[in-house]
Amino acid sequence: MSADGSLGAPPEGAAEDWTIPQGWDRYTDVEHQTWVTLYERQQKVLPGRACDAFMHGLDALDLHGGGIPDFEKISEKLRALTGWSVVAVPGLVPDEVFFDHLANRRFPAGNFIRRPDQLDYLQEPDVFHDVFGHVPMLTDPIFADYMAAYGRGGERAMKLGQLHNLARLYWYTVEFGLMRDPGGLRIYGAGIVSSRTESIFSLEDNSPNRIGFELERVMRTPYRIDDFQQVYFVIPSLDELLEVTQRDFGELYPRLAGAPDIPIDAIAEGDAVITRGDQRYARERAAAVLV
Ligand code: PHE
Ligand code: FE
Repeated sequence: MSADGSLGAPPEGAAEDWTIPQGWDRYTDVEHQTWVTLYERQQKVLPGRACDAFMHGLDALDLHGGGIPDFEKISEKLRALTGWSVVAVPGLVPDEVFFDHLANRRFPAGNFIRRPDQLDYLQEPDVFHDVFGHVPMLTDPIFADYMAAYGRGGERAMKLGQLHNLARLYWYTVEFGLMRDPGGLRIYGAGIVSSRTESIFSLEDNSPNRIGFELERVMRTPYRIDDFQQVYFVIPSLDELLEVTQRDFGELYPRLAGAPDIPIDAIAEGDAVITRGDQRYARERAAAVLV
Protein backbone atom coordinates (compact mmCIF):
# COMPACT_ATOMS: atom_id res chain seq x y z
CA MET A 1 0.00 0.00 0.00
CA SER A 2 1.23 3.48 -0.70
CA ALA A 3 0.23 6.88 0.57
CA ASP A 4 -0.04 8.37 -2.91
CA GLY A 5 -3.66 7.45 -3.38
CA SER A 6 -3.06 4.37 -5.52
CA LEU A 7 -5.50 2.36 -3.41
CA GLY A 8 -8.41 4.41 -4.61
CA ALA A 9 -10.38 6.64 -2.32
CA PRO A 10 -11.77 4.95 0.79
CA PRO A 11 -15.38 5.78 1.66
CA GLU A 12 -16.04 8.73 3.92
CA GLY A 13 -15.18 8.04 7.53
CA ALA A 14 -12.77 5.22 6.63
CA ALA A 15 -9.02 5.36 7.03
CA GLU A 16 -6.60 5.17 4.12
CA ASP A 17 -6.53 1.38 4.47
CA TRP A 18 -10.34 1.32 4.43
CA THR A 19 -10.65 0.39 8.11
CA ILE A 20 -13.35 1.91 10.30
CA PRO A 21 -14.10 1.63 14.00
CA GLN A 22 -16.19 -1.48 14.66
CA GLY A 23 -18.62 0.58 16.73
CA TRP A 24 -19.37 -2.31 19.04
CA ASP A 25 -21.39 -0.11 21.40
CA ARG A 26 -23.80 0.72 18.63
CA TYR A 27 -25.10 -2.80 17.96
CA THR A 28 -28.75 -3.17 18.91
CA ASP A 29 -30.23 -6.06 20.87
CA VAL A 30 -31.82 -7.34 17.68
CA GLU A 31 -28.41 -7.38 15.98
CA HIS A 32 -26.78 -9.28 18.85
CA GLN A 33 -29.71 -11.66 18.85
CA THR A 34 -29.21 -12.35 15.12
CA TRP A 35 -25.64 -13.44 15.88
CA VAL A 36 -26.85 -15.69 18.71
CA THR A 37 -29.50 -17.28 16.50
CA LEU A 38 -27.00 -17.95 13.71
CA TYR A 39 -24.46 -19.19 16.21
CA GLU A 40 -26.88 -21.63 17.80
CA ARG A 41 -27.98 -22.99 14.45
CA GLN A 42 -24.36 -23.74 13.53
CA GLN A 43 -23.74 -25.34 16.91
CA LYS A 44 -26.26 -27.96 15.89
CA VAL A 45 -24.74 -28.78 12.50
CA LEU A 46 -20.97 -28.26 12.85
CA PRO A 47 -19.83 -30.86 15.39
CA GLY A 48 -18.74 -33.85 13.30
CA ARG A 49 -18.84 -31.73 10.13
CA ALA A 50 -16.35 -28.87 10.69
CA CYS A 51 -12.67 -29.83 10.96
CA ASP A 52 -10.90 -30.00 14.32
CA ALA A 53 -8.93 -26.81 13.67
CA PHE A 54 -12.14 -24.84 13.23
CA MET A 55 -13.80 -26.29 16.33
CA HIS A 56 -10.67 -25.60 18.39
CA GLY A 57 -10.56 -22.06 17.05
CA LEU A 58 -14.11 -21.40 18.24
CA ASP A 59 -13.06 -22.50 21.71
CA ALA A 60 -9.77 -20.64 21.70
CA LEU A 61 -11.47 -17.36 20.79
CA ASP A 62 -14.36 -17.98 23.08
CA LEU A 63 -16.74 -17.13 20.28
CA HIS A 64 -19.52 -18.97 22.01
CA GLY A 65 -20.60 -16.04 24.12
CA GLY A 66 -23.65 -13.89 23.68
CA GLY A 67 -23.74 -11.63 20.71
CA ILE A 68 -21.49 -10.05 18.14
CA PRO A 69 -17.87 -10.25 19.33
CA ASP A 70 -15.78 -7.19 20.07
CA PHE A 71 -12.97 -7.19 17.47
CA GLU A 72 -10.46 -5.82 19.98
CA LYS A 73 -11.06 -8.67 22.35
CA ILE A 74 -10.78 -11.41 19.75
CA SER A 75 -7.74 -9.71 18.21
CA GLU A 76 -5.98 -9.83 21.55
CA LYS A 77 -6.43 -13.58 21.73
CA LEU A 78 -5.63 -14.11 18.07
CA ARG A 79 -2.47 -12.00 18.21
CA ALA A 80 -1.12 -14.15 21.01
CA LEU A 81 -1.84 -17.33 19.03
CA THR A 82 -0.76 -16.56 15.46
CA GLY A 83 -0.05 -12.83 15.18
CA TRP A 84 -3.32 -12.12 13.35
CA SER A 85 -5.88 -9.45 14.22
CA VAL A 86 -9.36 -8.53 13.00
CA VAL A 87 -10.06 -5.04 11.64
CA ALA A 88 -13.44 -3.59 10.68
CA VAL A 89 -14.25 -2.49 7.13
CA PRO A 90 -17.51 -1.20 5.67
CA GLY A 91 -17.97 -4.16 3.29
CA LEU A 92 -16.00 -5.56 0.37
CA VAL A 93 -12.73 -3.71 -0.17
CA PRO A 94 -10.61 -3.38 -3.34
CA ASP A 95 -8.31 -6.32 -4.03
CA GLU A 96 -5.09 -4.44 -3.32
CA VAL A 97 -6.43 -3.28 0.06
CA PHE A 98 -7.54 -6.80 0.92
CA PHE A 99 -4.19 -8.35 0.00
CA ASP A 100 -2.25 -5.75 1.95
CA HIS A 101 -4.25 -6.53 5.08
CA LEU A 102 -3.78 -10.27 4.69
CA ALA A 103 -0.06 -9.98 4.00
CA ASN A 104 0.19 -8.07 7.29
CA ARG A 105 -1.93 -10.57 9.19
CA ARG A 106 -4.99 -8.40 9.53
CA PHE A 107 -8.31 -9.92 8.59
CA PRO A 108 -10.75 -7.28 7.29
CA ALA A 109 -14.26 -8.05 8.52
CA GLY A 110 -17.55 -6.35 7.75
CA ASN A 111 -18.94 -4.79 10.93
CA PHE A 112 -22.61 -5.02 9.98
CA ILE A 113 -24.89 -8.00 10.48
CA ARG A 114 -27.61 -9.36 8.20
CA ARG A 115 -31.25 -8.62 8.90
CA PRO A 116 -33.36 -11.21 10.70
CA ASP A 117 -35.10 -12.07 7.40
CA GLN A 118 -31.75 -12.84 5.74
CA LEU A 119 -30.56 -15.63 8.02
CA ASP A 120 -30.06 -18.15 5.23
CA TYR A 121 -28.68 -16.12 2.42
CA LEU A 122 -26.85 -12.88 1.95
CA GLN A 123 -24.78 -11.81 -1.03
CA GLU A 124 -22.37 -9.54 0.83
CA PRO A 125 -20.23 -10.95 3.62
CA ASP A 126 -21.38 -9.68 7.01
CA VAL A 127 -19.81 -9.98 10.46
CA PHE A 128 -21.17 -13.48 10.96
CA HIS A 129 -19.62 -14.81 7.78
CA ASP A 130 -16.39 -12.88 8.27
CA VAL A 131 -15.83 -13.51 11.97
CA PHE A 132 -17.59 -16.78 12.70
CA GLY A 133 -16.65 -18.20 9.29
CA HIS A 134 -13.07 -17.03 8.83
CA VAL A 135 -11.49 -16.17 12.14
CA PRO A 136 -11.49 -19.55 13.95
CA MET A 137 -9.20 -21.04 11.25
CA LEU A 138 -6.76 -18.15 11.77
CA THR A 139 -5.96 -19.61 15.20
CA ASP A 140 -4.29 -22.52 13.41
CA PRO A 141 -0.60 -21.69 12.79
CA ILE A 142 -0.44 -23.43 9.40
CA PHE A 143 -3.64 -21.91 8.09
CA ALA A 144 -2.54 -18.53 9.48
CA ASP A 145 0.65 -18.78 7.41
CA TYR A 146 -1.32 -19.84 4.34
CA MET A 147 -3.57 -16.76 4.52
CA ALA A 148 -0.65 -14.36 4.93
CA ALA A 149 1.17 -16.05 2.03
CA TYR A 150 -1.99 -15.70 -0.04
CA GLY A 151 -1.98 -11.96 0.63
CA ARG A 152 1.58 -11.65 -0.63
CA GLY A 153 0.77 -13.91 -3.57
CA GLY A 154 -2.25 -11.74 -4.40
CA GLU A 155 -0.16 -8.60 -4.52
CA ARG A 156 2.19 -10.32 -6.88
CA ALA A 157 -0.53 -11.84 -9.07
CA MET A 158 -2.11 -8.41 -9.44
CA LYS A 159 1.11 -6.97 -10.78
CA LEU A 160 1.31 -9.89 -13.22
CA GLY A 161 -2.35 -9.53 -14.23
CA GLN A 162 -3.10 -13.09 -13.02
CA LEU A 163 -5.67 -12.55 -10.30
CA HIS A 164 -8.37 -14.45 -12.14
CA ASN A 165 -6.77 -17.87 -11.61
CA LEU A 166 -5.48 -17.09 -8.12
CA ALA A 167 -8.95 -16.01 -6.93
CA ARG A 168 -10.21 -19.51 -7.72
CA LEU A 169 -7.66 -20.95 -5.33
CA TYR A 170 -9.01 -18.71 -2.57
CA TRP A 171 -12.56 -19.64 -3.39
CA TYR A 172 -12.01 -23.40 -3.41
CA THR A 173 -9.87 -23.39 -0.26
CA VAL A 174 -10.48 -20.48 2.12
CA GLU A 175 -14.17 -20.13 1.23
CA PHE A 176 -15.35 -23.59 0.17
CA GLY A 177 -12.61 -26.04 1.12
CA LEU A 178 -13.12 -29.53 2.47
CA MET A 179 -10.41 -31.60 4.11
CA ARG A 180 -9.76 -35.09 5.28
CA ASP A 181 -9.69 -35.29 9.05
CA PRO A 182 -9.03 -38.51 10.95
CA GLY A 183 -12.80 -38.89 11.34
CA GLY A 184 -13.66 -38.43 7.65
CA LEU A 185 -14.44 -35.52 5.31
CA ARG A 186 -14.68 -32.22 7.14
CA ILE A 187 -15.37 -28.57 6.32
CA TYR A 188 -12.80 -25.82 6.74
CA GLY A 189 -14.11 -23.24 4.22
CA ALA A 190 -15.65 -20.10 5.72
CA GLY A 191 -18.46 -19.89 3.16
CA ILE A 192 -19.59 -23.35 4.21
CA VAL A 193 -19.20 -23.17 8.00
CA SER A 194 -21.18 -19.93 8.12
CA SER A 195 -24.09 -21.47 6.18
CA ARG A 196 -26.40 -24.02 7.75
CA THR A 197 -27.68 -25.39 4.47
CA GLU A 198 -24.31 -25.62 2.71
CA SER A 199 -22.72 -27.26 5.78
CA ILE A 200 -25.01 -30.20 5.11
CA PHE A 201 -25.08 -29.99 1.31
CA SER A 202 -21.30 -29.87 0.88
CA LEU A 203 -20.77 -33.11 2.77
CA GLU A 204 -23.95 -35.08 2.30
CA ASP A 205 -25.76 -34.15 -0.89
CA ASN A 206 -25.47 -36.41 -3.94
CA SER A 207 -25.34 -33.48 -6.33
CA PRO A 208 -21.80 -31.97 -6.19
CA ASN A 209 -18.52 -33.58 -7.22
CA ARG A 210 -15.89 -33.96 -4.52
CA ILE A 211 -12.40 -34.16 -5.92
CA GLY A 212 -8.91 -34.40 -4.43
CA PHE A 213 -7.19 -31.00 -4.39
CA GLU A 214 -4.69 -30.41 -7.17
CA LEU A 215 -3.35 -26.90 -7.53
CA GLU A 216 -3.54 -26.36 -11.29
CA ARG A 217 -6.82 -28.22 -11.59
CA VAL A 218 -8.39 -25.91 -9.01
CA MET A 219 -7.01 -22.79 -10.65
CA ARG A 220 -8.58 -23.84 -13.95
CA THR A 221 -12.05 -24.37 -12.47
CA PRO A 222 -14.62 -21.53 -12.49
CA TYR A 223 -16.83 -21.10 -9.43
CA ARG A 224 -20.37 -20.09 -8.61
CA ILE A 225 -21.08 -16.96 -6.65
CA ASP A 226 -24.86 -17.34 -6.55
CA ASP A 227 -25.60 -20.76 -5.12
CA PHE A 228 -24.16 -23.97 -3.64
CA GLN A 229 -20.95 -25.11 -5.29
CA GLN A 230 -21.04 -27.80 -7.95
CA VAL A 231 -17.60 -29.08 -7.03
CA TYR A 232 -15.64 -29.15 -3.78
CA PHE A 233 -11.92 -29.85 -3.58
CA VAL A 234 -10.59 -31.90 -0.70
CA ILE A 235 -7.16 -31.26 0.81
CA PRO A 236 -5.35 -34.08 2.62
CA SER A 237 -4.26 -31.72 5.40
CA LEU A 238 -3.55 -28.05 6.04
CA ASP A 239 0.18 -28.80 5.95
CA GLU A 240 -0.09 -30.08 2.42
CA LEU A 241 -2.15 -27.11 1.34
CA LEU A 242 0.53 -24.76 2.61
CA GLU A 243 3.26 -26.85 1.08
CA VAL A 244 1.91 -27.05 -2.47
CA THR A 245 1.17 -23.33 -2.57
CA GLN A 246 4.71 -22.41 -1.47
CA ARG A 247 6.04 -22.97 -4.97
CA ASP A 248 6.70 -20.02 -7.18
CA PHE A 249 3.53 -19.27 -9.14
CA GLY A 250 5.58 -17.20 -11.59
CA GLU A 251 6.08 -20.25 -13.79
CA LEU A 252 2.54 -21.47 -13.25
CA TYR A 253 0.66 -18.42 -14.47
CA PRO A 254 1.83 -18.46 -18.09
CA ARG A 255 0.86 -22.11 -18.34
CA LEU A 256 -2.56 -21.45 -16.82
CA ALA A 257 -3.16 -18.55 -19.16
CA GLY A 258 -2.79 -20.93 -22.10
CA ALA A 259 -4.91 -23.72 -20.63
CA PRO A 260 -8.69 -23.91 -21.10
CA ASP A 261 -11.05 -23.74 -18.12
CA ILE A 262 -12.44 -27.02 -16.85
CA PRO A 263 -16.25 -26.96 -16.88
CA ILE A 264 -17.63 -26.62 -13.38
CA ASP A 265 -19.43 -29.98 -13.41
CA ALA A 266 -16.73 -31.98 -15.20
CA ILE A 267 -14.58 -34.83 -14.02
CA ALA A 268 -11.23 -34.19 -15.67
CA GLU A 269 -8.48 -36.58 -16.62
CA GLY A 270 -6.30 -37.30 -13.63
CA ASP A 271 -8.94 -36.26 -11.06
CA ALA A 272 -8.86 -38.12 -7.76
CA VAL A 273 -12.62 -38.54 -7.55
CA ILE A 274 -13.97 -38.86 -4.04
CA THR A 275 -17.64 -38.58 -4.98
CA ARG A 276 -19.01 -38.23 -8.46
CA GLY A 277 -22.11 -36.08 -8.10
CA ASP A 278 -25.27 -36.33 -10.19
CA GLN A 279 -25.48 -32.48 -10.43
CA ARG A 280 -29.18 -32.77 -9.86
CA TYR A 281 -29.42 -29.76 -7.56
CA ALA A 282 -27.60 -27.52 -10.04
CA ARG A 283 -29.69 -28.75 -12.97
CA GLU A 284 -32.91 -27.89 -11.18
CA ARG A 285 -31.80 -24.33 -10.45
CA ALA A 286 -31.69 -21.25 -12.62
CA ALA A 287 -28.70 -20.45 -14.82
CA ALA A 288 -25.39 -20.27 -13.01
CA VAL A 289 -23.33 -17.16 -12.46
CA LEU A 290 -19.75 -18.27 -13.02
CA VAL A 291 -16.46 -16.54 -12.27
N1 PHE B 1 3.44 -19.14 -3.81
C1 PHE B 1 2.59 -18.20 -4.46
C2 PHE B 1 3.40 -17.29 -5.44
O1 PHE B 1 4.54 -17.54 -5.68
C3 PHE B 1 1.83 -17.34 -3.46
C4 PHE B 1 0.79 -18.06 -2.69
C5 PHE B 1 1.02 -18.61 -1.44
C6 PHE B 1 -0.50 -18.15 -3.18
C7 PHE B 1 0.02 -19.24 -0.72
C8 PHE B 1 -1.48 -18.77 -2.49
C9 PHE B 1 -1.25 -19.32 -1.25
O2 PHE B 1 2.86 -16.36 -5.97
FE1 FE C 1 -15.41 -14.91 3.02
